[in-house]
Amino acid sequence: MQKTVLVTGAASGIGEACTRLLLERGAKVTAFDPQIERMQNALGESENLLTIGGDVSQKQDCIDAVANTINKFGGLDGLIHCGAAHSSARWDELEPEEMNRVLAVNATGSFLIAQAAATHMTKQGKGSIVLTTSGSVLFGVTGGNGQGGPAYVSSKGAVLALTRSLARALGPTGVRVNAISPGITDTPMVAGYTDEQNAAMKQRFPMGRFAEPEEIAEGALYLVSDKASLMTGENMHINGGSGFGG
Ligand SMILES: NC(=O)c1ccc[n+]([C@@H]2O[C@H](COP(=O)([O-])OP(=O)(O)OC[C@H]3O[C@@H](n4cnc5c(N)ncnc54)[C@H](O)[C@@H]3O)[C@@H](O)[C@H]2O)c1
Repeated sequence: MQKTVLVTGAASGIGEACTRLLLERGAKVTAFDPQIERMQNALGESENLLTIGGDVSQKQDCIDAVANTINKFGGLDGLIHCGAAHSSARWDELEPEEMNRVLAVNATGSFLIAQAAATHMTKQGKGSIVLTTSGSVLFGVTGGNGQGGPAYVSSKGAVLALTRSLARALGPTGVRVNAISPGITDTPMVAGYTDEQNAAMKQRFPMGRFAEPEEIAEGALYLVSDKASLMTGENMHINGGSGFGG
């Protein structure tokens, strides 16, 4: 893929898988994550890779990530935004500080990194932005049946609405904005779920298993590519069939 792509959350899980697949396919990648050492250990070095430490909830970090990408690679064609904070605190234990922390990273952070990317992309009259929402928006659940995780689920609902709002606003400029919506995926984010929680959640999956990070990354790579040239404002579910029925 002859593109320059900024990937957030690149130190782990789905963002790391996106970065690896993009590099394998010839793209130039800026990998962005607050865990800089972990990211560098996971991804190693390559002339087509720039690693940058940063936090998507900080506007200047987002602006700097885009500026450094353009300085190193001469442009920015795509954004795959995977970085996020998890929270499975129940409704009756969720404090406002936790709610605001999760919204700041997942909702405001999605906006800030998309805004920074779009500021460049609209000038060049093309670009593709992929945000990450979650199957939990369909179910109202994360962290096991009945747990809820309202901070995380609300934040991912905001990402879905943000995707549509930005797609509407940026469509006339030639910039596409889509979302991927993973079902449960085998990454560190969900490593804390108990066997009992996993077994209960697996019952929803007709395919009988959770996703591998690469299976989600393939969807993101499709959306960021020119193969998806007329797709905008969409939400691509990749969840082993867990999004319909009981
Ligand atoms: N794993 C799942 O089951 C699942 C399901 C639905 C949606 N998702 C979503 O997929 C995306 C990737 O999740 P994952 O499973 O790979 O998780 P992960 O925990 O493996 O990776 C998340 C990465 O985000 C980074 N991050 C955290 N805060 C950040 C910030 N403020 N700025 C930038 N990066 C930050 C972390 O350092 C980490 O490297 C997330 O948006 C997550 O909400 C995951």
